[in-house]
Amino acid sequence: AATRHHEWEISYQFTHSDCVRKLAVTINGHTPGPTIRATQGDTVVVRVKNSLLTENVAIHWHGIRQIGTPWADGTEGVTQCPVLPGDVFTYTFVVDRPGTYMYHAHYGMQRSAGLNGLIVVAAAAGSPDAEPFRYDGEHAVLLNDWWHKSTYEQAAGLAAAPIGWVGEPQTLLINGRGRFVNCSSMAPGACNATHPECATQVFAVVPGKTYRFRIASVTSLSALNFEIEGHQMTVVEADGHYVKPFVVKNLNIYSGETYSVLIKADQNPNRNYWLASNVVSRKPGTATGTAILSYYGGRSSPRRPPPTTPPTGPAWDDTAYRFRQSIATVAHPAHVEPPPPRADRTILLLNTQNKIDGRIKWALNNVSFTLPHTPYLVAMKSGLLGAFDQRPPPETYAHQGYDIYAVQKNPSAVTSDGLYRLQFGSVVDVVLQNANMLDANKSETHPWHLHGHDFWVLGYGIGRFDPAVHPATYNLKDPILKNTVAVHPYGWTALRFKADNPGVWAFHCHIEAHFFMGMGVVFEEGVERVAELPKEIMGCGKAKGGGH
Ligand code: C2O
Ligand code: CU
Repeated sequence: AATRHHEWEISYQFTHSDCVRKLAVTINGHTPGPTIRATQGDTVVVRVKNSLLTENVAIHWHGIRQIGTPWADGTEGVTQCPVLPGDVFTYTFVVDRPGTYMYHAHYGMQRSAGLNGLIVVAAAAGSPDAEPFRYDGEHAVLLNDWWHKSTYEQAAGLAAAPIGWVGEPQTLLINGRGRFVNCSSMAPGACNATHPECATQVFAVVPGKTYRFRIASVTSLSALNFEIEGHQMTVVEADGHYVKPFVVKNLNIYSGETYSVLIKADQNPNRNYWLASNVVSRKPGTATGTAILSYYGGRSSPRRPPPTTPPTGPAWDDTAYRFRQSIATVAHPAHVEPPPPRADRTILLLNTQNKIDGRIKWALNNVSFTLPHTPYLVAMKSGLLGAFDQRPPPETYAHQGYDIYAVQKNPSAVTSDGLYRLQFGSVVDVVLQNANMLDANKSETHPWHLHGHDFWVLGYGIGRFDPAVHPATYNLKDPILKNTVAVHPYGWTALRFKADNPGVWAFHCHIEAHFFMGMGVVFEEGVERVAELPKEIMGCGKAKGGGH
């Protein structure tokens, strides 16, 4: 196995991702950042220099489990103190499984300011984890949504009473490139339609060949539907695990998810085709995000827009259609890892929108999450018990009769930075229950992401989860392992994992604004087994003096 060294400088730069000039947080001057490529078993070393003049940073390696290196997870407030302006922090971790992953900032709403990118891990030669499918070439697609307002303004709005909601994105980006539709009506200098940074991405293919497209979504808010005009996609990977192949024309992808699809370049090579991403699950207020598929040797020049209008995707509110894709995503028959047959503990989390001191929050079992000032990992290893709320959050919601279709009668909640302590090695089920929001007849999709683990996706339902009935319907035969999963409107999602990775791990909605508003929890397991912490993660909160 090799060691792959990367030197990153994080800085503010004026960028033109959608042709509109915007101050972004960049890696070595770019957003998205460079793709990290490695082979299974390699050690990745990323030396991060924070050259932001006025802002901390922390970077999370999304989908990498950090076995034995929980301090390298990059989650500010959970596994490390933030990296201060001018400081350097080196992340060292092993990529132990092949697959498609991502990285992004995990500090405030910084991910959406531009600090994100892809991680592609190839299977080691002869590994039992080698792909159960064949392809001739591959392309990588990073999907994002983009706002012209700064993330600071967005965060301040979210924390205000009354709320200043972030609204729908201005543009959808593919590999950091998009096109703001009202460019020409902006003030002179504000938008440059011919800026090279917003030139449409072109994906070239050789006629007759099969391509693997690795697709990841780092969106701040949007659930997306992705398609390649005129080409069927065979889904073969989800979050680093091989899927029992199924064919789709449109792929739903939620923030924090990755997929690989195979496409055959078997269409008329003399014209180009659209790659299109469209908002689903929220009423779209954003134009289709586009890129171009072009055939080598065809008569169309690669950059020429296809002769058609870009596909607009399925109806945004067709929940049943998205639900079917969730259900269809199961483990490849040759790569089934059966889950333990039963759980030692079940945590039932009711997702609600609440009000605290006139401010809108999200809560789980009526507890809205706040990050502590001392990272849990540091606090727990150093016995700083006063650093966070020692009372564990509730295992379930009080009233099993809760009407998930109604507006909550008493929307007040509490805030807490308490965490769930899991017995090391135990099997934990989590059932995420969705409900109506503060407005009548409204329930959103939430993509939940777990750090430090993959979990088996045991089942989904629409309606209220019944602990006496639904566990009997779980898929224990060939459930897919994932690290991010959707909870559909008014629905529930059940997942299982083994608490066998010593550390402290965030579990949260991957919608940036929702996590910011409290939609998350934290799990601790086997923290006493964690090796001595590197000093570099300390130096904030009650751990001051531990580092600097
Ligand atoms: Cu990709 Cu905690 O996030
Ligand atoms: Cu959410």
